[in-house]
Amino acid sequence: MPRTVFLSTGFYVPDRVVTNDELTRWWQTSDEWIRERTGIRERRWVRPGEQAGSDLALEATRIALERGGIQPSDLDCIVYATLSPDYFFPGGGVFLQRKLGVPGIPALDVRNQCTGFLYGLSVADAWIRSGQYRRVLLVGSEVHSTGIDFGPAGRDLGVLFGDGAGVAILGATDDPGRGVLSTHLFADGRHAELLWCESDASARFPRISHEDLDAGRHYPKMQGREVFKSAVAAMLESVRTALAANGLAPADVNLLIAHQANLRINEMVQRQLGLRDDQVYNNIDRYGNTTAATIPIAIDECVASGRLKRGDLLVLTAFGSGFTWGSAVVRW
Ligand code: UT7
Repeated sequence: MPRTVFLSTGFYVPDRVVTNDELTRWWQTSDEWIRERTGIRERRWVRPGEQAGSDLALEATRIALERGGIQPSDLDCIVYATLSPDYFFPGGGVFLQRKLGVPGIPALDVRNQCTGFLYGLSVADAWIRSGQYRRVLLVGSEVHSTGIDFGPAGRDLGVLFGDGAGVAILGATDDPGRGVLSTHLFADGRHAELLWCESDASARFPRISHEDLDAGRHYPKMQGREVFKSAVAAMLESVRTALAANGLAPADVNLLIAHQANLRINEMVQRQLGLRDDQVYNNIDRYGNTTAATIPIAIDECVASGRLKRGDLLVLTAFGSGFTWGSAVVRW
């Protein structure tokens, strides 16, 4: 059976840099609080109305295609992970497909929030190993900034999120020593309301009302402390599960890339796994939380800077709304 390898990667973030200081225009907050409690210094936001998530994904895809010497017509399938699709429906995958000019190939949307890239990787890996598709474009893309509550209630979430896209073009190899070794996915819907967006929603009638708008139900809401504690425990557990499934230990890991939601979460995971600083990568200081895009953006930065080299053992882990979480082990 073939294995799945990363043929090429790319990422794109809007050029508009939003510093912590700029956020004090809207909220009672400070650069110091945001840096100390989250590790974020700045994030990128689109200029509203100028770029959608599928536009960010297109730019990231162009970079990955060019770098890999791959044509859009070489792609067999698109897997598009996002919690902020351009529209309620259809999903973002078809808009990206249209912009890429590759009508006909399937476009699957994955709605697993911060774990979306790992859920997508697991599906793409199964398709590639089964031989159904040989080249899969796996995307994580988000535009959060158009859905931020600029009133006082939006402060805790508003400072955390950034816009961006990261992609990987996945392919098949017969080399048994390389590729995706395993993926591990989890979910617990009992906690869905701890991080969610209630409206507009087909579960409600009307789907959105003036009262919903007045109450801000169309903005995301989070119980930060609960999510924080659950994120540490779940990512830790899923990394341990992934390593054990492959007969590996933390000392074998060349690079752990964890979802970028809060630097303190990742520092706790690092400490409890006993990993050195050179075994982990964080870039939340520059992008904030870009949800499904955080992992592919970080992978691409590590490839570009030489932190991730052929033969390295790469471990990925993420946690987010749902709750959903997971991990993957890759021999790069
Ligand atoms: O991506 C999906 C997964 N998401 C996450 O994993 C995020 C998990 N949660 C977190 O990262 C953190 O809980 C937050 C960053 C959201 C909040 O940090 P915290 O250390 O848990 O703060 P807190 O909510 O316990 O609030 C501490 C204080 C409060 O003030 P009082 O009650 O102590 O006077 C808050 O009102 O900090 C205040 N606060 C702020 N102050 C300045 C909350 N947000 C802010 C802010 N600026 N942006």
